[in-house]
Amino acid sequence: MAIRKITEYPEKILAEVGKPVTVFDEELESLCADMFETMYDAEGVGLAAQQIGLGLQLFVMDCEGVKLVAANPEIISTTGEQSGQEGCLSLGKVPAVVVRAEKATLRARDAKGEWFEREATGYAARAFQHETDHCNGKLFIDHLPKMRREMVVKKFQKEKKMR
Ligand code: NI
Repeated sequence: MAIRKITEYPEKILAEVGKPVTVFDEELESLCADMFETMYDAEGVGLAAQQIGLGLQLFVMDCEGVKLVAANPEIISTTGEQSGQEGCLSLGKVPAVVVRAEKATLRARDAKGEWFEREATGYAARAFQHETDHCNGKLFIDHLPKMRREMVVKKFQKEKKMR
């Protein structure tokens, strides 16, 4: 296992749609182990392949008891609405309030290639939506109005300089 370098905004790969995962082998399992390790090290609750520089439809998460690997993820249904703080490891965890569905059902393949469906509410449902967005080249700031998006980016760039 190894901790990978986290890709940060505005690296191009973060805006690209990932390729579907087609091979479910030991290499993929080892990649997922690295992704978990990288996520825990950064104290995040989710991490997509784009965030370690790989253009794949793949994410890992461990959020409020929902721990999983999702390859080729899709949000197949949503209900309700929640408004809450959200951040991203690729933007230095600078928080902003994002409106998301309260409940979401994720359909994806696990590290062995088995399809599964998982329903979640609240923060875990938020993570489903945030990470699935990453796989499609979308960041949480893309859900914000222009002014607030610019505020997050500015704050991130300022904090990055002070590291
Ligand atoms: Ni993120």
